[in-house]
Amino acid sequence: MAIPDGFIDEIKARIRPSELIGRTVALKRQGREFAGLSPFKKERTPSFFVNDDKGFYHCFASQEHGDIFTWLQKTQGLSFMEAVEALAQEAGLDAPKSEPADPEREARRQRTLDWNEAAQDWFARQLASPAGSTARAYLESRGLKAADFARFELGFAPDSRRGLTQALMQKGASVRDLADAGLVIEPDDGGEAYDRFRGRITFAIRDPRGRMVAFGARALSKEQRAKYLNSPETALFHKGSTLYRYPEARAAASDPKSGASGLIVAEGYMDVIAFARAGMGHAVAPLGTALTENQMALLWRAGGEPVICLDGDGAGQRAAALAAERALPLIAPGKTLRFVFLPAGADPDDLLRDKGARALREAVAQPRPLIDVLWERELNAGPLDDPDRRAAFRKRLRELTARIADPDMRAEYRAEFDARLNTLFARTPRSTGRDDRRPGRFAPPAAPGKDVVNSARKPESERAAPMARQLLAGAIEYPAIAAAEAETLAELPFGPLDSLRDAVLDACLDPAFEPDEGLATRLAARGFSGALARLSADRAAARAGLGGEDAGADDRLEAWRRLSASYMEQVAFVIRKAEDRARIEDAFNSGDPDAFKSCLAALRRGKTR
Ligand code: UTP
Ligand code: MN
Repeated sequence: MAIPDGFIDEIKARIRPSELIGRTVALKRQGREFAGLSPFKKERTPSFFVNDDKGFYHCFASQEHGDIFTWLQKTQGLSFMEAVEALAQEAGLDAPKSEPADPEREARRQRTLDWNEAAQDWFARQLASPAGSTARAYLESRGLKAADFARFELGFAPDSRRGLTQALMQKGASVRDLADAGLVIEPDDGGEAYDRFRGRITFAIRDPRGRMVAFGARALSKEQRAKYLNSPETALFHKGSTLYRYPEARAAASDPKSGASGLIVAEGYMDVIAFARAGMGHAVAPLGTALTENQMALLWRAGGEPVICLDGDGAGQRAAALAAERALPLIAPGKTLRFVFLPAGADPDDLLRDKGARALREAVAQPRPLIDVLWERELNAGPLDDPDRRAAFRKRLRELTARIADPDMRAEYRAEFDARLNTLFARTPRSTGRDDRRPGRFAPPAAPGKDVVNSARKPESERAAPMARQLLAGAIEYPAIAAAEAETLAELPFGPLDSLRDAVLDACLDPAFEPDEGLATRLAARGFSGALARLSADRAAARAGLGGEDAGADDRLEAWRRLSASYMEQVAFVIRKAEDRARIEDAFNSGDPDAFKSCLAALRRGKTR
C-alpha cells in the first residue's frame, strides 16, 4: 500500500505528540517539553520527555525514541501501516487505500462485518437471558464468572432452527447477507436457510485488525456431532490467517508491564481464556488446525519470541515437531518459536482450575528452543546402535538444516547439531559395560584443539541440563525408579537441581517410604514446589520418554537406565581435559561409587589437580 507524498507530514502536523502520549502517560510541562515517568521502564524520577516542536518522545531510562507512529507501534503493537491508518482517522484524513474500491464488493464486506457484530450482540443477550441458564451454568462450572462473559465476548446460540436468522432478518438482513457472513446454512435442496450454530456456547473471533469476522462454537451436550464448530471461510474470514484473540493479545503483549516476551499459543479457546484469567492476556490459539505460516507471521509481528504451549502427550509432541518443521524456512534472527510441554493430558484450562494461576504461569516460564524439538524427534525416532542408523540420523538433521533459508540461522543450527552429534557419538556408551569398552566403535574423540566442547555454544552445565532434568523428573514421576537406581542418581551431576536430587534420595532412603506413595507431594512438603513446577514439562516429557502410561515398570526402569547411560556419557564428554576423562574413567572402573561420586564432584568444582 503506497502512502501519498506528504501524507505522513500532514498527520504529524495535526496530532500533537504530548496529546496522544498524554492519554496513557501522565505528563507535566517542563519548559518547551513535557516530562513523565518512563512507560518502558519502572522508575521513580521522570526521564521520559515529549517534545511537540520536534515531534518526538525520548526515554533516557530505556533509550526508546520515536514519533507518534512508533509510539503506537511500541505501545499498542500496531504495524506501521496500522498506526498510519489509526492516526489518519484521528486526524480526520482518509487513510490511503490499497486498491480502487469496488463499491459493491466493499458494501458486501461491510454488511458481513455488521451482521457478525449484530450476531454477537444477539448471542450475548441470549446468554444473559433465561434461555441461557444452562449455558451460564456450564460456563460457571468451568470457573467463569458473569463478568468474564462480556470480557471474553462469549454468547449462546439457542437450540432453535431459525432464532438468529429471524432476529437478524427483522433488523433488515437478507438471507444472502447472512450466508455471506457465514451465519446460516442454505440447504442444497433449496429449502429454508437455518442457523449454523445451535445449542452452543459462542466465542467471538476477530481478525488481526479487530473486526468481528467469525465465531467458534462449543457444543453443550455430548450428543452433538462436533464438539467445536467454526464459521466457514468467507470473504473476510480465513481460518489459516486468524488467531483467536490476536488483537487483544497483541495489545497485552506490548504493555511493558505485562512481562510478556512474545505471544503464547494455546490449543483451544478455553485455554486462551484461562491464560487471560491467570493474568496472561497475551495468549492466542489457532482455530482447530496446525499452526500455518500466516499465523506464524502474525505471531512474529507481535514481537518477541512466541511460545507454543502444547500437551506433553504424543499428539502434542507431534504438533510441536510439525510447527517446528513448518517454521524452518521462515526463521531468522529474532524470528523463532519456543515450546512448552504441559503434563500429559492436561491443558492450560485444566491446569488453571486444578492448580491455580501461579502454576499456569510457572508452567510456561521456561520454554524450550525450537532446535530441541527437532533434535528430540529425530533422536527418539529409533535406535542409533549401528553406523548405518547413526548416518541416517545425521542425514535427517542435515536435511532439516538445509530447509532454513536464513544463512545465519542455518549456520547456527548446523553448528549446534554437529556439537550434539559429537557429544552423542564421541565415546563408547556406558551401557556396553565396564569391561567391554570397544574403542573405535564410535567416532574417535575430537582431536585436542578442535575439541567439540570448545566449539559448543553453551556452557557445559546448560548443555547437560535437558537430559539431567528428564532423568530427575522420571525418578520423581516413578519413585520405584528412584528407589531402584538410588546409586546412579547419587552419582550423576544435576547442577542446579542437585539439592532436589538429594531430597529425592532422602525420601527414598527413608524406611517409611513406600514407592507407591507420590514423591512429588513429599517433595512439595519439603519446600521444593517451585523446583517441581519448573520441572513440570520435563515430568511430562519423562512420562512420554519412559514408554508412556501403558509401559510396564520393568520397561520403564530399562528406559531410564539407557537414558542415564547416555547422560553419563555426555557428562564424561563435557569434561574438557583428556586427563580428567581418564580420572573419571578410573574412578568409574574402580567400581566404588563413593570414589566416582567424589571424583565427579571434584571435577565439577574444577579441582582435580
Ligand atoms: P478439543 O476438541 O481438543 O477441545 O479442541 P478442548 O479445547 O479441550 O475443549 P474443551 O476444553 O473441552 O472445551 C481444541 C480446540 O480446537 C479448536 C477450538 O479452539 C478448541 O478449543 N477447534 C476445534 C476449532 O476451532 N474448530 C474445530 O472445528 C475444532
Ligand atoms: Mn480443554
